[in-house]
Amino acid sequence: MTDDVEQHEGQPEATPPIAGQIFGDRLALAEEYARVLTEEGVLRGLIGPREVPQLWTRHLLNCGVLSEVIEQDETVIDVGSGAGFPGIPLAIARPDLTITLIDPLLRRTTFLDEVVASLPLPNVTVVRGRAEEKAVLKAVEPADVVTSRAVAPLERLARWSAPLIRGGGRLVALKGRSAADEIARDWEKVLRLGIRDLRVEECGTILETPTTLIIGRRIESARDARGARKSGQRK
Ligand SMILES: C[S@@+](CC[C@H](N)C(=O)[O-])C[C@H]1O[C@@H](n2cnc3c(N)ncnc32)[C@H](O)[C@@H]1O
Repeated sequence: MTDDVEQHEGQPEATPPIAGQIFGDRLALAEEYARVLTEEGVLRGLIGPREVPQLWTRHLLNCGVLSEVIEQDETVIDVGSGAGFPGIPLAIARPDLTITLIDPLLRRTTFLDEVVASLPLPNVTVVRGRAEEKAVLKAVEPADVVTSRAVAPLERLARWSAPLIRGGGRLVALKGRSAADEIARDWEKVLRLGIRDLRVEECGTILETPTTLIIGRRIESARDARGARKSGQRK
């Protein structure tokens, strides 16, 4: 590690100019979220202090660009939001969306509730629980899109997400380099769970490191499911 890096370790990252392109006239909200994460988020152990110098490049921007694959006015459920990724940057970038954040840990949902109230983000609701729990399934309507980042391997993620996606809706999982391998390994099991057309997509190509996604479509009907099984497709 160079002296230069040591000197900057833990220092908040300045707002990158490209953030304006992603958050538009809501950039001040994104800056406020970055401030809260840097202060309360670190203090309460929701993010590591090492994340502070890369809060924008590794987290806020990479999650904000998810907006590119979400249609106008869609409903979104973010499974395993943790400190709010990707759900909060998405809600900041896209006030037209209705977003539900799900996480089982009280410490995290308390923080999320506070962020939602203080920014404020009236388009966001926080639900405490495991995505697969009956109480959670009762509390939320199946959404157009179910997002997640760093929550579970694809098959488990699909098992938790599928019941939360409306027929014809999408699974959108932020993944790293493992995306194609995860699809090759799990597509048959994922198809049995009712999610087809799995593909790897990139969004945020304006960023130095674009965001890699796995996208799949929830089977709409029993006939749709039979068709997918017959053709034995990853599609
Ligand atoms: C590694 S963290 C990632 C947090 C956030 N998505 C991010 O990218 O920073 C995984 C999160 O998934 C949550 N989680 C684990 N199992 C879950 C489940 N069954 N349903 C919903 N959330 C879950 C954990 O509480 C944790 O907040």
